[in-house]
Amino acid sequence: MSFRTLDGLTLAGKRVLLRADLNVPLHDGRITDRTRLERLTPTIRELAARGARVIVCSHFGRPKGKPDPAFSLAPIAAALGEVLGRPVAFAADCIGPAAQAAVAALAPGGVLVLENTRFHAGEEANDPAFAQALADLADLYVNDAFSAAHRAHASTAAVAHLLPAYAGRLMQRELEALAAALDHPARPLAAIVGGAKVSTKLALLGNLIARVNALVIAGAMANTFLAANGIAIGSSLEEPSMHDAARQIAAAAKAAGCEIILPIDAVTATEFRANPPTQMVAIDAVAPGTLILDLGPASVARLVEKLAGWKTLVWNGPLGAFETPPFDAATTTLARAVAERTAAGRLLSVAGGGDTVAALHHAGVAEQFSYLSTAGGAFLEWLEGKTLPGVAALG
Ligand code: 3PG
Ligand code: MG
Repeated sequence: MSFRTLDGLTLAGKRVLLRADLNVPLHDGRITDRTRLERLTPTIRELAARGARVIVCSHFGRPKGKPDPAFSLAPIAAALGEVLGRPVAFAADCIGPAAQAAVAALAPGGVLVLENTRFHAGEEANDPAFAQALADLADLYVNDAFSAAHRAHASTAAVAHLLPAYAGRLMQRELEALAAALDHPARPLAAIVGGAKVSTKLALLGNLIARVNALVIAGAMANTFLAANGIAIGSSLEEPSMHDAARQIAAAAKAAGCEIILPIDAVTATEFRANPPTQMVAIDAVAPGTLILDLGPASVARLVEKLAGWKTLVWNGPLGAFETPPFDAATTTLARAVAERTAAGRLLSVAGGGDTVAALHHAGVAEQFSYLSTAGGAFLEWLEGKTLPGVAALG
């Protein structure tokens, strides 16, 4: 993986097209999480301080190639201005006369946000003419949107070949953290993979067992592995059609010398709701009709113990049904232990994926991991070992 950074670049007076990921959660007109905006500010501030004219472009939602006011970036541009603490101009189109006029009005050090790139069908089609219209607005291209880098779209891929292309500080930090975790990690390297389904994470598990020394399988996906091993899991969520796949993954892991760590106990309940009566049971003692909803205390204690021997950890997916108390206990306990090891300088910890971010925020340790990615799909594709088009275009 090689890419150019902003180091040593002449930026004064230059028009810089900055591909950001302004795809923030918006509910009833309110942004419920500004993390992605906050993460962008170092690059924007640096570009502006070095005298660039900063032209921010991004997709927002999935408007299907035509303008749709519900997916306008106007409110997000205003929020970005608040986060930056400086005025941010807005152009009602990302190409054509409206965009050109807004760029022409931009002074060195000024910041402009262009309307949603997905208002044009050319964006998702990675269309060369649309990419050229974007490129015509600028002298340089900077990509700070790792979280959109799994998309081969005009603003993430085609345009990078039409202008001198660089990684922004956020992209740079993300790629450096990911490389330190999987490409040249300090070992032992472990991965924790939680979440519901084996079927959506087959490629990811296949890639990880070839790279990591230990793989913790948790969440409902662990139920599938347990059931495939002939363990009774009551009425727990699982994928019977994935038993063969689970056994194959376990066999391949064994051949590769990767230790697979499954739950040894569980927290169960007869219904899935907040604070029902629960039982702590050994994993071979799950009662018929009950649901496994979290790792049990013995499993967590074992993980905390193993953690002491690991030098690098990649974490994707919660351990239990963390959104419903008390089934957040295992995730929270382990997340805090990881944060402690990280703070002590004993562990490099990288986490990502939508639910993972929410789970670590819930545990109160989101800022204490070495790196927490706000990417969803891009983080998963990176864990699968795929080349991300938006990253490849910077090479
Ligand atoms: C995300 O939020 O995961 C990225 O912005 C990509 O969005 P997309 O899945 O609509 O391409
Ligand atoms: Mg997505």
